[in-house]
Amino acid sequence: MDAGEGKASHEEPGRRAFFARLFWSGIALVSAGLAIPVGGYFLSPLFVKPKGHEVDLGELESFPLGEPKRIEFAMRQREGWITRAVRAIAWVVRQKDRVVVFDPHCTHLGCAYHWDPAADRFFCPCHGGVFSINGCVKAGPPPRPLDIYPSTVRNGRLYADLSPVRNVGVGTWRCGAHGNRPSKV
Ligand code: FES
Repeated sequence: MDAGEGKASHEEPGRRAFFARLFWSGIALVSAGLAIPVGGYFLSPLFVKPKGHEVDLGELESFPLGEPKRIEFAMRQREGWITRAVRAIAWVVRQKDRVVVFDPHCTHLGCAYHWDPAADRFFCPCHGGVFSINGCVKAGPPPRPLDIYPSTVRNGRLYADLSPVRNVGVGTWRCGAHGNRPSKV
């Protein structure tokens, strides 16, 4: 065996190890490149904030003028990967120049309230909360006016965004002559 042959056979394992490292580094890089978008696709529903849930509540004309109407409807709600249909309730008050969609829960402790046409008031049976047709507190313990769902009228139909309930704190809500913030009709 001459000296050159001995040197070549000595360098061979080192070169093989180098190429093996190069190969596995390449595999690791490609895997990481694939894992980030694929993992992001599967995990994103956990971190993405749900967008607003706009719901078609029907023809504006189907809501009587000056008479609150309780409506029940189904809406799709997304939680993580799961989307399911849930039943929702709202009170719609249509007046000559505006329409307001109220969350159906009393702002005291969340009981369901109802409309009393004879008294022209919303009443909450739990602790005697009383609200005007505009959702302003008239009596009882509720700390703020009724919460409303932002709503809009398009092509004669009423739509409400049921995801953000406008929860306005004490003292910041104008419950005077203008009542609650209305949708333009
Ligand atoms: Fe309505 Fe208490 S929950 S008054």
